[in-house]
Amino acid sequence: MDNQKLSPKGCILVTGGCGFIGSHTVVYLLNEGYDVVVVDDLSNASEKVLDRIDTIVGDDAAERLTFVRADVADKDALETVFDEFDIDAVIHFAGFKAVGESVTKPIEYYSNNIGNTLVLVDVMRDHGCKSILFSSSATVYGDPDALPLTEASPKKACTNPYGWTKWMIEEILRSLTIADPEWNVVLLRYFNPIGAHPSGLMGEDPKGIPNNLLPYVAQVAVGRRDAVHVFGNDYDTPDGTGVRDYIHVMDLASGHVAALDWMVGRTGCEVFNLGTGKGTSVLEIIRAFSAACGRELPYVIEPRRAGDVTANYADCAKAREMLGWEAKYDIADMCRDSWNWQSKNPNGYADSNEA
Ligand code: WQD
Repeated sequence: MDNQKLSPKGCILVTGGCGFIGSHTVVYLLNEGYDVVVVDDLSNASEKVLDRIDTIVGDDAAERLTFVRADVADKDALETVFDEFDIDAVIHFAGFKAVGESVTKPIEYYSNNIGNTLVLVDVMRDHGCKSILFSSSATVYGDPDALPLTEASPKKACTNPYGWTKWMIEEILRSLTIADPEWNVVLLRYFNPIGAHPSGLMGEDPKGIPNNLLPYVAQVAVGRRDAVHVFGNDYDTPDGTGVRDYIHVMDLASGHVAALDWMVGRTGCEVFNLGTGKGTSVLEIIRAFSAACGRELPYVIEPRRAGDVTANYADCAKAREMLGWEAKYDIADMCRDSWNWQSKNPNGYADSNEA
């Protein structure tokens, strides 16, 4: 194959495209007419998601999707992808993401997340592709001094190696734009991504005991776990529980496409928050999910979890003004779609019959 390209819209390499946010973004890209090459080593994702993507977008759009099973740190594999496809831009999701695990495996987290990014940008440079959109996190704001968080809020100390990898990769990518003015970098700082595709065909499928609130609540709702453990009810918030800016994964996905469209013809480094601007407490989430699944979900109050901040939520003005993007889904929508996915796939992708 020589420099394959089917679509005039452009060809996007999506690393980690089989994961939770990646897969939803791939659907959006295909629906918008992009060609998509997914590179994923399936270390924390299921290949079955590719069949679900095909079902959602339909046969014609699915023809514009190519899957390459490879680790982004595998330079030879990446070289082959760039030789075979005329990649216009990269959306880089691939990375380890379990906060707690990162504390016990710092070498693995730093080496995987930072190492794969360095291989990626090296290969990109060699092939003259210098546009990259990076999956960053609000975790780079650390414990905020003031809310809401704007992109100008200071980056502060992270409480775990996972967070530091996001923090450092941002700086690595920013350095590229200083060294070489042809680089075009967008850093998207996600707040708390939840929800699922409204079809119920795709959603979050964590391995083992979920670390994050929503998948845990969803597993309680479906009977896989007994009760939600609420980590602290003595925070300085209206009901004492932690407050976060939860954002529907469909909104996040559309935010990537808006950012990609905005990047065309630009250079430099720009940062955008992707959130809703609204804070929601743990108890409010449990209530909203109970309403979505039609049953009061049991919970128990536990001590605070180490490293948690009291509250954070985004100021979303910059993305609204510059990208013309804003979140459309509310908490009730997020819980409805998350429940739809979890109730149709109680064990995630594991039980599906596709090849
Ligand atoms: C949300 C709230 C908890 C679980 C983390 C990462 C971040 C990003 C998203 C991931 C907090 C409370 C949680 C539970 C609870 N990256 N909680 N019981 O900590 O805001 O963000 O995930 O890839 O970088 O730091 O999200 O969902 O873990 O917690 O009470 O079983 O729910 O204390 O207030 P967090 P979360």
